[in-house]
Amino acid sequence: MDVSLKCIECGRSFEPGVLYRCSACNGLLDVVPDLDSLRGIVSRDLFDSRLGSTKAPYNSGIWRFRELIHPLVSDRDIVSRPEGNTSLYFHRRVDEYAGIKNLRLKHEGENPTGSFKDRGMSPGVSEARRLGMEVTACASTGNTSASLAAYSSLAGLSSVVFIPEGNIAFGKLSQALAYGARVLQVEGNFDDAMALVQESASELGLYLLNSVNPWRVEGQKSIMFELVQQLGWESPDWVVVPAGNLGNTSAFGKAFLELEELDLIDSIPKIASVQASGADPFFRQWRDGVDVLEAVGEPETIATAIRIGNPVSWRKALRSIRSSGGVVDEVTDQEIMDAKAVIDSSGIGCEPASAASLAGVRKLRDAGVVDRKDSVVCIVTGNILKDPEATVDYHLDRLGDLGISPSYANRPVSIKADLNSVREAIK
Ligand SMILES: Cc1ncc(COP(=O)(O)O)c(C=O)c1O
Ligand SMILES: [Zn+2]
Repeated sequence: MDVSLKCIECGRSFEPGVLYRCSACNGLLDVVPDLDSLRGIVSRDLFDSRLGSTKAPYNSGIWRFRELIHPLVSDRDIVSRPEGNTSLYFHRRVDEYAGIKNLRLKHEGENPTGSFKDRGMSPGVSEARRLGMEVTACASTGNTSASLAAYSSLAGLSSVVFIPEGNIAFGKLSQALAYGARVLQVEGNFDDAMALVQESASELGLYLLNSVNPWRVEGQKSIMFELVQQLGWESPDWVVVPAGNLGNTSAFGKAFLELEELDLIDSIPKIASVQASGADPFFRQWRDGVDVLEAVGEPETIATAIRIGNPVSWRKALRSIRSSGGVVDEVTDQEIMDAKAVIDSSGIGCEPASAASLAGVRKLRDAGVVDRKDSVVCIVTGNILKDPEATVDYHLDRLGDLGISPSYANRPVSIKADLNSVREAIK
């Protein structure tokens, strides 16, 4: 079974190895599986027969699809917790908020370290092992570092994470420290940290595991593989995803093209990619129809996971939006936090960035882009406990400085320690 790395700019092909960009033109690389040789090998039945397995690696929602994720890695090198197998939720309150009859939330916050990043990190760290690398590295708004640290330690590798100083949520920082990464707090924002880690990887021999690494994107395809499998191999009309560095947007489009090529699905869902309005370079590019993305110099949003001004994967992401007939939109921090409060109070819960998807659907539905009767799946990218500070600040109405007033505040009530006060308070 063959697989190669191919430059998305100049088309040059390379053998898989320690390589993140094209050595001729610096373009991003795609993993190109040999789909012809997979025809007749992979099928809905094969993947369904692995569902519910209790044994590694097929107990993982990534490695169940291993032929389409990383055909080169051996069982011995697979690093899995296991991940995936995340739930699809529906709730009337969420439907009503979005104005959609058939809306589901796929909760990637149920992955082992609490975000979808585990989907890409498992094959990424497995590849590090296959290549004999000893130290992994990434720049991160938080979730990638948590995931990198966990998977590297599990594999017996060291890890170094580059985070923007003071700019990541506490839950995520605590994970990176606890899982044993060397944590470098970089003066500057995520984009500065990203530039530094790329330079450090090539100079110091670190294995780079940001989504510029094409194996991360391969792993994240499994969110869509698993989704359509959960839906009985039926495609929804729309998949809506929060967008920062654009790894998911890139992965989803690639996943659908491969599924269609292998006759595993009959139609390709439209992808809607939703950015925060203070960190919206991809939205601007798409709205203005320009060929090259212009970075946002000082990205700002309460959703720190998507506070990214210069997303590395924009070319791949644009390809996904175009091939799926999708759209790009943006939502305000107010819309993000209100949508989060709706997801949270439905008993499902998520971190701020994750709610950009629901906020985006509501906006696209109001604009008539998404129809009330369309089947819609919102990807919920991270766990509610990643950023408790944002949640508490919202409910205590402490976000006025950011222009956010809580439409769904649930304030705690202070009472005297007697029954009458309780009766009064819960009336
Ligand atoms: C919770 C969460 N949501 C969304 C994103 C953005 O994802 P992408 O970089 O794939 O656009 C991130 C990335 O850090 C994240 O951690
Ligand atoms: Zn090239």
